[in-house]
Amino acid sequence: MLSTRNGAPVEAFAKSDSVIQGQSLKFHADDVQSRRLSAAWQARFQRKGKSAARSPFRVNSNQNSSGRAKPVLFYYNRKLDRSRPKIPKTLRNGFFNMKILVTGGAGFIGSNFILQQIQDESVSIINLDKLTYAGNLRNLDSLADHKRYTFVRGDIADRALVRRLLEEQVPAAIVHFAAESHVDRSIRGPEEFIQTNINGTFALLEETRSYWTGLSAEERDHFRFLHVSTDEVFGSLAPNDPAFSERTPYAPNSPYAASKAASDHLVRAYHHTYGLPVLTTNCSNNYGSFQFPEKLIPLMILNARDGKALPVYGDGKNVRDWLYVEDHCEAIATVLRRGATGETYNIGGWNEKPNIEIVEMICDLVDGLSPRLGAPRRDLITFVKDRPGHDRRYAMDASKIQRELGWRPKETFESGIRKTVRWYLEHDEWVRDVTSGSYRQWITTHYAD
Ligand code: NAD
Ligand code: TYD
Repeated sequence: MLSTRNGAPVEAFAKSDSVIQGQSLKFHADDVQSRRLSAAWQARFQRKGKSAARSPFRVNSNQNSSGRAKPVLFYYNRKLDRSRPKIPKTLRNGFFNMKILVTGGAGFIGSNFILQQIQDESVSIINLDKLTYAGNLRNLDSLADHKRYTFVRGDIADRALVRRLLEEQVPAAIVHFAAESHVDRSIRGPEEFIQTNINGTFALLEETRSYWTGLSAEERDHFRFLHVSTDEVFGSLAPNDPAFSERTPYAPNSPYAASKAASDHLVRAYHHTYGLPVLTTNCSNNYGSFQFPEKLIPLMILNARDGKALPVYGDGKNVRDWLYVEDHCEAIATVLRRGATGETYNIGGWNEKPNIEIVEMICDLVDGLSPRLGAPRRDLITFVKDRPGHDRRYAMDASKIQRELGWRPKETFESGIRKTVRWYLEHDEWVRDVTSGSYRQWITTHYAD
């Protein structure tokens, strides 16, 4: 509970960002009587224990038996606060007429999502990103002066910041990408993964719940929280196992997968317990432009370009299901618009391939698109020590999203990988930017043994 003392600047206090729906404030009766709090601000608070009185600050007695000023309890009532902007009316006619809070929008998938969705004139976007090593504002250079796009640097675990953003911006939806996302980093140092993926998601959910509770019934109905997750939560498949479906039990094997699984469970629980309108998508491995070159495909493209060794873990026969990032972003937009709340949707490319096959394709494409080396780039392939606990196979059954929402990938792997290789070869400045400093250090340490 917050409280003021006689003579304290009550108005400034009551206006502070830390006051949220249902928050109790203890005012002293003489502050109230002397109208230190203007009528406009008084109208936002409701006397504890009283039904919605329109003059909530009326206090009958301002002294107790000893003659000292009596504290009086009020709480902040979002519904009485007329100064707070409402979700614009147009939203009620078309769900996609909306302001979206995107978390982690400076990363690989988030920036592709923003660039794609901002094309729709009825969408405006606030991008909350901490800018870790994986966040790169260059991805969004083309939106620098865009009137429907706002960037806010910050951590999803910073509850005061998230609260203020929600109160000020009044988004109709949240699309939650922010995460630590690289399995190898989670093996070397899992702590950040627990902090952002679990604690950060928890903080975001708590603030979202509080914000959503304060919306009108109609706004609550329209609001959506979409959580972006991964196929890795399902664990590893044997060669002849059926692909993961939405009913496959969770069996995460890496610290990354475990932290994402934990966040998925929290999101589910917030729907089941509090009725928060959530949607969860679990997607297979993405590839495309703006992916940080620590992940398989961009790492191999750049090493192949430069004639460096191509480090394939183990026997190279681990299988992943690859999806072009723009297809993933369209799937997310489809789920946001048409998905049923409380449901989860698997997203995949129907495109299982062993790693070695991917690396060989990249070698051939780079040979064809950039200056030839003395020998074919396939000669650069080097089998290195396997990743500990390396999942053997992932495969996604994406038939539910196709059947219920009509989404299926547009890009074939052949066309998507060609575009991707071309993109990395043509964006030298972007590559130079992200491969300086801490990136070099990661590559040197990680591939040392
Ligand atoms: P990424 O690592 O490229 O980007 C993550 C972004 O989140 C970065 O911009 C980073 O700065 C930001 N971020 C990290 N911690 C933050 C924090 N505490 N507060 C605010 N921002 C923070 O990741 P990506 O590949 O774009 O993945 C995005 C999401 O999609 C993740 O949740 C990931 O688990 C999921 N996913 C990724 C893939 C894939 O193949 N890349 C597949 C399925 C699901
Ligand atoms: P990665 O891109 O890290 O994605 P994830 O681990 O989330 O699937 O790795 C994709 C596959 O490529 C995975 O089986 C590990 C393998 N891999 C290598 O063989 N060598 C590498 O240098 C990297 C980064 C990954």
